[in-house]
Amino acid sequence: MLSIVVPTYLEEENIPPLIAGISDALKETDISYEVIIVDDNSPDGIKEVIDQLIPDHPVRLIQPKGRERDLSMSVIDGTLAAQGEHILVMDADLSHPPDLIPAMYRTLLEDESAFVVGSRYVEHGSFDRRWSLWRFFNSHIATLITRPLVQCQDPMSGFFAFRRDQIEDYDRLNPIGYKIGLELMVRGNFSVVREVPINFSDREIGESKLNLNQQIKFLRHLRRLYTARFGTLGEFLSYGAVGAGGFVVDLAFYYLLQIMGMPHQLARACSFWPAVSSNWYLNRIATFGERKRRPQGRQWFEFVLTSLIGFSLNWGVYYILTSRIAYFDDYRLLALIAGVGVASVFNFVMSSLVVYNEKRQ
Ligand code: GDD
Ligand code: MN
Repeated sequence: MLSIVVPTYLEEENIPPLIAGISDALKETDISYEVIIVDDNSPDGIKEVIDQLIPDHPVRLIQPKGRERDLSMSVIDGTLAAQGEHILVMDADLSHPPDLIPAMYRTLLEDESAFVVGSRYVEHGSFDRRWSLWRFFNSHIATLITRPLVQCQDPMSGFFAFRRDQIEDYDRLNPIGYKIGLELMVRGNFSVVREVPINFSDREIGESKLNLNQQIKFLRHLRRLYTARFGTLGEFLSYGAVGAGGFVVDLAFYYLLQIMGMPHQLARACSFWPAVSSNWYLNRIATFGERKRRPQGRQWFEFVLTSLIGFSLNWGVYYILTSRIAYFDDYRLLALIAGVGVASVFNFVMSSLVVYNEKRQ
């Protein structure tokens, strides 16, 4: 049996045409199915709408209680409530064509270990031409930064199908915000992602709930998935990226202060502080953002202290190599790189074990 899970919030008007579309698409096939509407307690008439449909259609409504409104959690709730072993998730707003349900389902039956995605970005797929440039770029950049996590042209898609038992433990899923498909792809045991081209059309009724807040949640979600997939290496790369950003801040202040008339030695001493502080903050919210937050002042102080020790090491390695080993005196850049390398590892280890030492949540 195919269980079609539809998360909804304020979609009462879209439900009748959606259910009609699903019926039409499936009535000529021998697919047995149910539709589970997972509504986050919308203050509208969804309950009456579903009650009217129940006599003629295999549809039911669940309204989870006791948590914040959340698209991803709704999809998980719907999946757990499903009777079928095959799950298909789609939006309520008719952006995802019900006609393609049979093709998605067949693709899944061909290879039950696959994760099937209705994709806008493969050949013959399309997205709405009315899309704003902002939405277009957003979607593409988001897709690009998920590349190391999944082999999928459209990992943001909310139209997908999978076998329910390919996810071992639903309690271990930990999505934030909108991208439940991505979460399932990364954390599930799927052998491959198979993409079915779809034509995505924008909703006619109601409005998208995808706002800036959701975008920020997406970044946090991504970081969480990167940490899950790449562990400490992910943290180390993030730490390195923050460090590189700090170098830019350092340089910017170094020049800015001089333009404002400060002597260059003093500017050099001052520019360290904004750089080290922004590094501390970014590591706090990004690199080690999964860990519980410690009080700021003391953590900042510890971070500065380790950075200073790290810098001494950096300089010390350079000094020793160039003064003791003739080779490094000829290739000083190598000595410099060795110093930066040793200091980076030292800083990272200290940050990871001492400064941000709370366990990952
Ligand atoms: N239960 C529940 N709770 N459902 C929600 C919530 C919520 O908090 N927020 C939104 N939904 C439902 C909507 O009612 C709709 O059925 C579906 O989730 C998608 O929401 P939209 O607000 O229409 O999202 P969108 O069109 O901006 O985004 C869609 O396309 C994106 C890619 O462009 C979704 O499919 C996204 O998942 C997808 O990434
Ligand atoms: Mn939509």
